Amino acid sequence: MFNSDCFNINEKGNLTIGGYDTTEIAAEFGTPVYVMDEETVRKNCRLYKQSIDNYYGGNGLPLYASKALSCKEMCRIAASEGLGLDVVSGGELYTAMEAGFPADKIYFHGNSKTREEIEYAVDCKIGCFVVDNIDELILLNKICDEKGTKQDIMLRLKPGIDAHTHDFIRTGQIDSKFGFAIETGEADQAVKKALEYKNLNLVGVHCHIGSQIFEVEPFELAAQVMINFMADMKEKYHVVLSRLNLGGGFGIKYIPENKPIKYDKYMEKVSETVRKACEERGLDLPYILLEPGRSLVGEAGITLYRICSVKTIPGVRTYVLTDGGMGDNPRYALYQAEYDAVIANKASEERTVKVTIGGRYCESGDLIQENLMIQQPETGDLLAVFGTGAYNYSMASNYNRVPRPPIVMITDGKPRVIVRRETYADIVNCDI
Ligand code: LLP
Repeated sequence: MFNSDCFNINEKGNLTIGGYDTTEIAAEFGTPVYVMDEETVRKNCRLYKQSIDNYYGGNGLPLYASKALSCKEMCRIAASEGLGLDVVSGGELYTAMEAGFPADKIYFHGNSKTREEIEYAVDCKIGCFVVDNIDELILLNKICDEKGTKQDIMLRLKPGIDAHTHDFIRTGQIDSKFGFAIETGEADQAVKKALEYKNLNLVGVHCHIGSQIFEVEPFELAAQVMINFMADMKEKYHVVLSRLNLGGGFGIKYIPENKPIKYDKYMEKVSETVRKACEERGLDLPYILLEPGRSLVGEAGITLYRICSVKTIPGVRTYVLTDGGMGDNPRYALYQAEYDAVIANKASEERTVKVTIGGRYCESGDLIQENLMIQQPETGDLLAVFGTGAYNYSMASNYNRVPRPPIVMITDGKPRVIVRRETYADIVNCDI
């Protein structure tokens, strides 16, 4: 019935998460509130680790793409599950360092890293930079030279595969702001240059082919293209690229129609492809990195809102207006993202009313979902929106000077605050 088995309905007819009544969470912590089930997050982390163990002899590591939800507790959970971390800014790196995340397992992404961020990451002694462009390559080498260090790097490549087209392949993918294109010879030149820099140690290549992907084939194709490139570079420059990072993008279930495949299927198929391609090209098997973000945290989270008003415009639509909206979840406004929702205190009732869920922000596009069937809504009801564990808190803003909601984590059947609610004082904290 729901997108994850951490949800249920109790004898009062209320929605539960991790066995805890959502109406009690709202009463205790207020609304809006993000709620996460820790067990589900940990289970997902283990699925990725186990799939690498089962299908690839443990010769790899999942990195948690922390852009999906960056906070200290999530970094601690990822660390305790033995995952590495993908960070994409000085802020995400700082969060990880404050959480005590092992620096050698941190990979630093980004297509426009600043000098300050690069220096900070070098000082933190992070494991690896994923270098996006030539300017970054030059600057990183210079900074490492100034600091008298040598840095492991990978190069971000564009394999020419777009997972969102039907045949998965589209040569025009060179028009992306991320990485070096293989087909134009740009990637080849980047390898050549990287090998010339004495403060950089080129250990491998990276690609990321998209997000919310439900098929395995594009990952297999990407692996194939990347291994061919690695083999070409070995033949041409005698360089052994020992790490292959295949990025993230594994799809999750937002709505009942979404059918994500079991995550271990990716590794099962991709391992086969990698083994075959390596055999054909005479390469040793590379260490494989994956970067799941959404699929580790997305389905583990919901947002609870209080319904402040119900507005029926005869012959047009019924608006259900909440105490949150695009400030805590901008994804419908940005991408018309699909979400499912129920009235948490009427979860066992039939869904009989078609509604548009709107928020409290001064913007007509401040919607969470349109034309969704939910239970008969009334002012004061509690609305639960599913699948908000990824790219909600991390993309939230203070538009209209609304404080951002807290994150409450259900651990062993009990709620605990892992990010506290912002206050009005926080809102003016940086004001002079
Ligand atoms: N690795 C790289 C290099 C990435 O660019 C991304 C996501 C990931 C890993 C993680 O992808 P995931 O497994 O979470 O799909 N704000 C958008 C998503 C942007 C994703 C950007 N890159 C959304 O809300 O849907």
